[in-house]
Amino acid sequence: MLNYTDGNTYVCGIIGNPVRHTLSPLIHNTLSDMLDVNLVYVPFEVEESGLKYAVRGAYELGLRGLNVTVPYKSDVLQYLKYVDPLAESIGAVNTLVRDEALKGFRGYNTDMTGLYRAMQEEGIELSGETVVILGAGGVARPTAHLCVNKGAKKVYILNRTLEKAEAIAEELSDDRVVAMDIADYKEVLLREESFFAIQCTSVGLFPDVNSAVIEDAEFYKHVHAALDVVYKPLDTKFLKLARQAGAKTFSGLKMLLYQGIDAYELWNADLGVKISKEMADEVYKSLSLEVVGARNIILEGFMGSGKSTVSELLSDRLSLELMDTDACIEQTEGRSISSIFEEDGEEAFRDMETELLTMIAEDHLRDMVISLGGGMPVREENRKLLKESGKVVYLKASPETIYERVKGDTTRPLLQSEDPLARIKELLDKRSAVYDEAADLIIETDGKTPEEIVSEIINELGL
Ligand code: ATR
Repeated sequence: MLNYTDGNTYVCGIIGNPVRHTLSPLIHNTLSDMLDVNLVYVPFEVEESGLKYAVRGAYELGLRGLNVTVPYKSDVLQYLKYVDPLAESIGAVNTLVRDEALKGFRGYNTDMTGLYRAMQEEGIELSGETVVILGAGGVARPTAHLCVNKGAKKVYILNRTLEKAEAIAEELSDDRVVAMDIADYKEVLLREESFFAIQCTSVGLFPDVNSAVIEDAEFYKHVHAALDVVYKPLDTKFLKLARQAGAKTFSGLKMLLYQGIDAYELWNADLGVKISKEMADEVYKSLSLEVVGARNIILEGFMGSGKSTVSELLSDRLSLELMDTDACIEQTEGRSISSIFEEDGEEAFRDMETELLTMIAEDHLRDMVISLGGGMPVREENRKLLKESGKVVYLKASPETIYERVKGDTTRPLLQSEDPLARIKELLDKRSAVYDEAADLIIETDGKTPEEIVSEIINELGL
């Protein structure tokens, strides 16, 4: 990823506490990279007592813009020169835009505009829609505001603690808004044939991945579209239940993405920056891989385990770049692997492999499907580098399957023996412990088609 800074570099960032796990730098730095904008985005952890100075200091240091996250979205309002009406009505901002004329920052709420934009991208029109919001906490409240603001026909706010739902309804004072105890959700089913459900509770958040705030299949029969603001895991139990019942579903990661995109456009309005759907999709891909912990998807396995076929199919399905480490080394060296072995010996080749992996890990290369040379995970150092580089998927096959797949291939020196099957067994015995150790995910490939294997990988990774 681009890391070029000079005297003209714009700086943006995020203030909050904690901010270390933020995905925002990935969004903004990827956008800058794509658009060739000389801008860096960094997290700033700010103590409560320092908020005022952080905002002032950011202006004095020439920062172009800031995101504001928990717990300062409301507290920061008092330090702004102007607050956008939508943000004002919600009482919270997440985006500050530098304003030279005002000698300070303007505040916006792109959590809300981004949520709206994400819905529109998914073909959901709030106007005239019946919405059921589950939860009444920090996200539910502005979501309810947005729904009312954009002309929803009816907005139900269902919460475990009824008072909190009632407080939001009171604040909105609109007869389209109904607060209810979530235990009474069947009431809604009696009244409404079909609705858009927005899951705003923390139920289902990792590691509580097998729960949904409502598990009753009856409920989901009424859901035509579902959004879960939880995005870790990407596919929550709530979304799974909704999808099984035939609803269109989308993840809160889309919300996160579009709040970032809206902020980025605000900061760079003078450059006329507009982010297209294609670019947004590209960033979403990086984000989703990051969320599932698979910056790259790395395939390992014995020869004939299907690495080449599966990696090609997988990279097609996910529109990710494909890297074959053997091919990559051959290209860099300008000679075949067998000539490298002959001319420089195996150790030299293993060093080249380690060098390539080091580059992938240290340069933070991402969004690739990487097919590994069969011996790559043997070195302990390589296994460590692999862990840093992404999710390692071991394509496991029995000696008999491998033999069937490679027996016709006369170019494989390892098989030029009296009893190739015995030779495969012997080698596999040696290698399998190493493959197991390197793997984050083991896929049994015997009797499965490449398409089935690819689907299994995508499923297992939670993509
Ligand atoms: P807050 O604003 O309270 O800090 P939040 O994280 O923004 O919280 O939102 C948490 C939401 O998840 C709340 O609606 C919470 O319900 P309560 O208001 O009754 O606490 C909801 N929630 C969390 N755990 C829940 C559970 N086990 N069952 C139902 N709802 C739950």
